Amino acid sequence: MASSKIFPFFTLLISTLFFSSPSASADPSISAEGLLESARQPEFFDWLVGIRRKIHQNPELGFDEYETSTLIRSELDALGVRYSWPVAKTGVVASIGSGSGPVFGLRADMDALPIQILTLWKELVDWEYKSKRSGKMHACGHDAHVTMLLGAAKLLQSHKDHLKGTIKLVFQPAEEGQAGAYHVLQEGVVDDVEAMFCMHVDPSLPTGTIASRPGPYLAASARFQTTIKGIGGHAAAPHKVVDPILAASLAILSLQQLVSRESDPLESRVVSVGFVKGGDAYNVIPETVTFGGTFRSMTTEGFSYLMKRIREIIETQSAVHRCTATVDFMEKKLIPYPVTINDEQIYNHAKRVGEGLVGEGNVLLGPMLMAAEDFSFFAQRIPSALFFVGVKNESVEVVHGLHSPYFSVDEQALPIGAALHSAVAMAYLDQHRNL
Ligand SMILES: *[C@@H]1O[C@H](CO)[C@@H](O)[C@H](O)[C@H]1NC(C)=O
Ligand SMILES: [Zn+2]
Ligand SMILES: [Zn+2]
Repeated sequence: MASSKIFPFFTLLISTLFFSSPSASADPSISAEGLLESARQPEFFDWLVGIRRKIHQNPELGFDEYETSTLIRSELDALGVRYSWPVAKTGVVASIGSGSGPVFGLRADMDALPIQILTLWKELVDWEYKSKRSGKMHACGHDAHVTMLLGAAKLLQSHKDHLKGTIKLVFQPAEEGQAGAYHVLQEGVVDDVEAMFCMHVDPSLPTGTIASRPGPYLAASARFQTTIKGIGGHAAAPHKVVDPILAASLAILSLQQLVSRESDPLESRVVSVGFVKGGDAYNVIPETVTFGGTFRSMTTEGFSYLMKRIREIIETQSAVHRCTATVDFMEKKLIPYPVTINDEQIYNHAKRVGEGLVGEGNVLLGPMLMAAEDFSFFAQRIPSALFFVGVKNESVEVVHGLHSPYFSVDEQALPIGAALHSAVAMAYLDQHRNL
């Protein structure tokens, strides 16, 4: 009987020695499941939820993420993690590990969205931690992305002596339309990164699942805006005016043929007009009409083709109707996003790690999407993979899409994201360490 009392103590002693031994070649707690278990501990989980809610309540738009950036830096300070700042105005790039190569990058975006509902500008999710800033909302889940990456910082920092290289955690500004990733790249802070990974929440996937695909995944995307100019006048005397409304109408109709008649049906392209503005009165032909929209393609060639033809179609349709047009792609200010292409090896690597984390059946092959992501700028330069992480949970009413004023996130996904980030990075260093 006595032995049964001594035995558990003895086992505990041995396991304590083993787990804390710095010379152990692999820390047995650094498995994907081990990281997830750590991130799910009540204290860790509550910390994640607290950060996410604080950011959610205080959304900031692209390049204005000053408070979010301050919060990130104060959490990194508390963890004892080094970082560069400011990067591209509000960004923060933290480093954990040996300081030498290989260097693996993890990325989270920080910005919120302007959300307008009819004349109300606000979040429509009725909960205690809703946005406190009118007209702004974390409706794309970037609050969760920042939280997951801070969670990864905490996990990685607790294993820092076991890292076989360096992990750079990139908290970037302005994903929504303003190409924050492009501006981060200009600063050279990720020049030494040899592979990169990021996650985006997906409210169509249940919590506990992740999805991605190798190769082209998200579309190249840009905008166009045009002003068609005619000669305004009395609507009862159309022969004395030059009607830009008619020219705009025909131009918009002609743009539809770009996809239906000029594109290979097996290639994915989109041209959508999102706004038309012209005129104020029932009986006045206006001088000008302005309209604009977005165009997307799954290939760079398709994207360039659309850009060229959108200009031609608007200019020539305007000329047919005796108007003149100027077409502006605003590329200087709103840099077009390239196609997001997942590197096959990094995709396979993250998939394998993900299978260890959430189970083989919960790693799904995602369909291509015509949405765009500025992570594509990183992926263009560095072999990279983007994964979606499920945040749908009907029992907590998470069912609405990205960019919806009803969008929300199942917070049970936060530890999954934190663990996946850190497991993907650590496994990469293990497999590519400099010998
Ligand atoms: C959905 O949310 C409920 C309540 O938080 C939780 O108990 C459940 O585990 C969640 N489902 C998944 C798949 O995580
Ligand atoms: Zn978005
Ligand atoms: Zn997003």
